[in-house]
Amino acid sequence: MTQTVLALETSCDETAVAVVQFHEEKFKILANFIASQADEHAQWGGVVPEIASRRHLEKMPFLLEKAIDQSGISISKVNAIAATVTPGLTGALLVGSITARTLACLHKRPFLGIHHLEGHLSSIYLAKQHPKPPFLVLLVSGGHTELIKVDIEHKYKRLGRSHDDAAGEAFDKVARLLGLSYPGGPAIQKIAKYGDPKKFLFPKGRVSNPKGGFYPYDFSFSGLKTAVFRKIDKLKSENKKLPIEDIAASFENVVAEVLVERSLRCALDQDLNSLVLVGGVAANERLRKMMLEKAAEKSINIALAPMEFCTDNAAMIGAAALLRLSSTRNQSSMELGVSARWPLEKSDLLYALNPPF
Ligand code: KG4
Ligand code: ZN
Repeated sequence: MTQTVLALETSCDETAVAVVQFHEEKFKILANFIASQADEHAQWGGVVPEIASRRHLEKMPFLLEKAIDQSGISISKVNAIAATVTPGLTGALLVGSITARTLACLHKRPFLGIHHLEGHLSSIYLAKQHPKPPFLVLLVSGGHTELIKVDIEHKYKRLGRSHDDAAGEAFDKVARLLGLSYPGGPAIQKIAKYGDPKKFLFPKGRVSNPKGGFYPYDFSFSGLKTAVFRKIDKLKSENKKLPIEDIAASFENVVAEVLVERSLRCALDQDLNSLVLVGGVAANERLRKMMLEKAAEKSINIALAPMEFCTDNAAMIGAAALLRLSSTRNQSSMELGVSARWPLEKSDLLYALNPPF
């Protein structure tokens, strides 16, 4: 059986629309459009929620028309219409969610509210090769740094998380300290290529367990950001030229090392021999390379989300929706709203008759 969904993503600063199909166990992307607002937010050094919502509203009709045109499928023929409903910027989420629910009502199609992190997780199914659960996922984005176990029944269990900044947030903040543009990840990656990753020794933040020792799979990036700030401040006070390439490379290297070391340790401890890497930071080349090398030494298989589906997009939301469609709870209530936060472990409740928000 072939199933097709129209999927919308507006949780942050990318307006995205995709039409995705599931046929004979394979996902096929019929249309995938993204309008990024990054350039506009760059002048403010980060995302301005009010601007984000307005741009989503302006760009959505145009992207919808293009996606439907290219897919060659009319809205009334899709099996469902999906939109990201949590987590994210509330005003931004509302644009996608209200558009999807309105179209669903008009065309009498089911509506599916998708958890943004489930979208990122599902981006792995858009790769040519992907493992079957159980596996461990390292989800690294602008808002989250999490280690999630996906079991045979596709249930999620969070085994590790950041206690302060997310990895992507650390990239964005350090880029700002270095005078680089937003988003910081790609800007740091670009100049880090010309720097020495061993020049500066920045700390690998750890999180203390009140019962003693450290949480082995948890992360802390705010101390790292402060260490970079102090180093820059010191060099400036000595009137030295800032070696921004070396600082960028050393920062990028320590972030990659921490992510790789803790993820592999978690996979080994949990007896999981497949590790999946998704989210915006998963596009980082140093992280991808280091993960592949170190995992090979420990005989752990690595599956990397395709580059184009690491950062926010609607194709991954479509993939998540198609997986939900084939399960028992395959429709959200039209009463389902949006929420800035909601735990991934409770994503099943997005398909409850009485929605949680
Ligand atoms: O997944 P995503 O598009 O949005 C969220 O859900 O947060 O991730 C965006 C984050 C930003 O913090 C951005 O700086 C980071 O991903 N990022 C990268 C790279 N490309 C994007 N970080 C490191 N290296 C990259 N190549
Ligand atoms: Zn995201």
